[in-house]
Amino acid sequence: MSVVASASASLALVKYWGKLRTGVNLPATPSLAISLDGLRTTTRIASETEGAAGDTVRINGTACPAQRFEPMIDRFRRRGGSTSRVTVESTNTFPTAAGLASSSSGFAALAIGLDAFYGTHLSRHELSREARQGSGSACRSVYGGFTAWETAADHAEQIHTADHWPQLRLLIVVLTRTAKPVSSREGMNATAGTSPVYRSWCRESQGIYERARTALDRRDLQALGTAMRESYLFMFSTMFTSRPPLIYWLPESLALIREAEDMRRDGIPVWETMDAGPQVKLLTTHDQVEAVRSRIPSAVPQASVLVSSVGGEPEVRDG
Ligand code: PMV
Repeated sequence: MSVVASASASLALVKYWGKLRTGVNLPATPSLAISLDGLRTTTRIASETEGAAGDTVRINGTACPAQRFEPMIDRFRRRGGSTSRVTVESTNTFPTAAGLASSSSGFAALAIGLDAFYGTHLSRHELSREARQGSGSACRSVYGGFTAWETAADHAEQIHTADHWPQLRLLIVVLTRTAKPVSSREGMNATAGTSPVYRSWCRESQGIYERARTALDRRDLQALGTAMRESYLFMFSTMFTSRPPLIYWLPESLALIREAEDMRRDGIPVWETMDAGPQVKLLTTHDQVEAVRSRIPSAVPQASVLVSSVGGEPEVRDG
């Protein structure tokens, strides 16, 4: 018996950065995100050979310690009334752990696959709750389209399907394929514990979220881009002011931030965002993709660019 599940990465326009002290991965800030159909994780779950001592997990062909995944696998196994061990093989269409939200699509695909494998038939909200416990942002990746995850909520919601704004595009500029030295989990805890601006971030992010949500509802790219920019820059200000400071940026990241500024000055509607890594993501519309793409090499000659639209409903099948 085996199943194959796939889910798309969830890119936050407004960031989740910080956890409440209670519960597992309950957010201290609200987030608003889109599902990227170009960045997908596919996960195959099969029965382990008879008598196997534990579950096995491989990501992009490399064996990984199962501890991070075992709690989720155990919960589904118990719920499904099974004792069957599993082999999990997961592949990403993009670099893993480099600030490209691989944990969002990874844990969402795992939850959806385990649900099918153990026959637990959870609702989408329950799957979101389960995925959250693997990685916060994964609670948004169990849906396609546009999602919201409110402060302290134990699951995310889909607020629009992809056809709400099919013209949107994200250019993901990959500056390095090296995995990040500090995980988002460690980064969040360090900033929450030591940054003097962390409390202001939590307070201000509600207003940023509300403005972004209204802009998204109205398909107002300029207002959405402006709120998106405020969100990531405020998030990074908590990292820069942590003790010790946490700096995910590369010189190339800043070069691209400057280039986006120049493009806007030249009338190209494009806004950037970043996550817990050096990569820069540029938000624009389909008719501007070539104009934006042609300006990237002057700022960062070595970068590779992935263009993604919104979409990416998760899928699951026997396999
Ligand atoms: O839940 P994690 O560990 O994938 O952390 C996500 C953190 C950010 O990508 C920076 C923000 C977000 O909302 O996705």
